[in-house]
This record gives sequence, structure tokens and C-alpha cells, in this order.
Amino acid sequence: MILGIETSCDETSVALLDGDGAVRVNLIASQIERHRPFGGVVPEIASREHLQHLFPLVGRALDDARASWSDIDRIAVTAGPGLIGALLVGVAGAQGLSYALGVPLTPVNHLEGHIFSPYLQREGAAISLPDRFLSLVISGGHSSIYDVKGGRPVMLNRTRDDAIGETFDKVAKFIGLPYPGGPQIEKHAGAGSIDRRRFPFPVPQFKDDSLDFSYSGIKAGAIRIARQQNIRIDGGDPKTLADFCATFQDALFAQLFDRLNAIWSRLPPPRPTEVAIAGGVAANGTLREKIQAWGRDRGIIVRLPEKRYCTDNAAMIAFAAMQSSAEAADPLRVHARSRIA
Ligand code: KG4
Ligand code: ZN
Repeated sequence: MILGIETSCDETSVALLDGDGAVRVNLIASQIERHRPFGGVVPEIASREHLQHLFPLVGRALDDARASWSDIDRIAVTAGPGLIGALLVGVAGAQGLSYALGVPLTPVNHLEGHIFSPYLQREGAAISLPDRFLSLVISGGHSSIYDVKGGRPVMLNRTRDDAIGETFDKVAKFIGLPYPGGPQIEKHAGAGSIDRRRFPFPVPQFKDDSLDFSYSGIKAGAIRIARQQNIRIDGGDPKTLADFCATFQDALFAQLFDRLNAIWSRLPPPRPTEVAIAGGVAANGTLREKIQAWGRDRGIIVRLPEKRYCTDNAAMIAFAAMQSSAEAADPLRVHARSRIA
């Protein structure tokens, strides 16, 4: 079995996967409640929480899988990108376990964890990876489209400023919704209708023909409109709030599809036969429906990660280590890195 460890942000997660990629256990100790009073993740609190939860969680994972230390053949740990203090807890813990058990340690890029997550399965073995697929990684820290060939992701675009999940979170915070904002905006959007005249959020275009994302304009526009029209969870008109959320969410996704369409049309044939979405925002039901329709129109397979594998989890980290041909490293030479080129 492979033991996965993830501590890059605000979830401590430990997973055990069988050799065929089947998930035996995937435990997540979420710190959301601890960070909620601050409206975002406080790095120092995150590190301390990881320190408290990591080893008890490893013990529980072994119990739940009815496994013992000797069943662990390999360890995979998120080495970055992420909060450095948070990453260090996972990496140091994994190094200690690897050294003590005498099993190899594989450092994993958190983004590769997300990229491969749509191919993870709770029941039975993982779906085998296609030779090539397009991956949209949309989370609190990242917004990028990758062309993944032979398991190697090539970045096609990125955000120039805010990530899409971050935009959800910041606008939600401004109107008084609790952290994390994405699921809250989605909930209120469900009761509203799109009104572009009342809430104009244009899709930004760059003069230099770049297909990068940019979400800071929509963020600033949404905050300005919310202030002018008194859109707030406490005191404002609920119907206006719902319509605002529906239109704002739609604008974020409109930009996603604008870039996806442009990238798709620029890709020389033969094009990938599969498109996958990953990261926290991939849990959004409206987006899941939209991307499935996008694939149906073009005869392309769309892969959606199970919702529990959208946000940060250790199963995807162990799974990514299994996809990579990278040799397991000397445990004492694995380093946490907050940024990875
Ligand atoms: O992947 P993730 O757990 O952490 C990062 O690596 O960033 O993603 C968290 C992000 C948050 O910004 C959260 O608001 C967003 O994912 N999110 C959603 C939904 N669920 C989580 N955004 C929109 N709709 C959702 N249902
Ligand atoms: Zn993540």
C-alpha cells in the first residue's frame, strides 16, 4: 500500500491506496472552523493544526484499513506549492516515517495531485490515464489549463492575478458570507436569476492575444456593485443577493469557457479526446453541468472528480505519486517548497 500525506493548506489529510490505485481510506481533518473567524487561512494556525492532527490521522487510517505499519510499501507527500509552514509539517512527518519504516518517499507537486484526481475512484481500481487530456485546475490558489501528454502536464495559461476560487472567497467575504465562499455563492445563486444589465461583469480580453485568466477586474467590479446596491447577507434584499450571486458566478464561468474555447480552437489537431476539471471549484454543480454539455457538443469525454476529491485530499497525492515515473527520493533530500516553477 501507498501512504499519502497532504498538508499544503488548511486540510490535514492522510490516505492509503492499494497498488492498483483503489482508495482504501482517505481521511481529512478540515480546519475550516478554526480559520472562519478570520475570513481566510491563517498560516500559523494551519501549521499548528497539522502538527496536532497528522500522526493521530495516520494511526486512524491504518485502523480503518485494518492495516499495520508493515503494510506500507511507499509514502507520498505534498512537497509544494503551498504554505511553507504547513508543508513542512507534512514533509518532516513523512521523512520520519519513511526513515523509520525503511520505505521510499516520493515528493508530489500538489497541482499534479489535482490534475490526476478526476481519474481516482472510491470503489475499485482507478481509471487508467488517457495518453492525453486537457485539465482545468481551478482552486483557491490556482487557475490554469494544462495539456497533459503521457502524464506530463504542460501549462497553457494561468491567472495573471487572483485565482477563481479566491475570487469567490473574497467577494463572498465582502457581502458577509462565511468562508469558504465558493459553496456559499453557489447556494445563493441557485435561488437567483442571471441579470447582466443590473450586474455587468465583462469577460476581460488582453490586447496581446494572451489567453491568461484575470479575475481581479470581476472581483473589484463585484465589490463596487455590492457596495453601491447594498448587497449584503444581513439587511439587504434576499432576491437581489441571489441574483447578484447567480450573475457573478456565471461571469466567473463565462471567462473559464472563453479561454477554454480559445485554447481548444488554437490546439492543432489531433486534439485531446478527454477534458477534466479539478480543484475545489470543480465541486460546483453548475460548472459540472456546463462542462458536461461542452463535452457533449464536441464529442469529448469529460472527467469530473468525485466531489470529495475536488478539495485538498491525500488520496490524490498518493495517486499522483503512482502516475509519476520519478524515482523515490532519499527521504532526507526531500524539501518543502512554497513555490514550484
Ligand atoms: O482545491 P482547494 O481545496 O484548495 C486549494 O488548493 O486552493 O480549493 C478551495 C477553493 C476555495 O476557494 C472554495 O471557495 C472553492 O474551492 N470551492 C468552490 C466550491 N467548493 C469549493 N467554489 C465554487 N463552488 C463550489 N461548490
Ligand atoms: Zn489544492
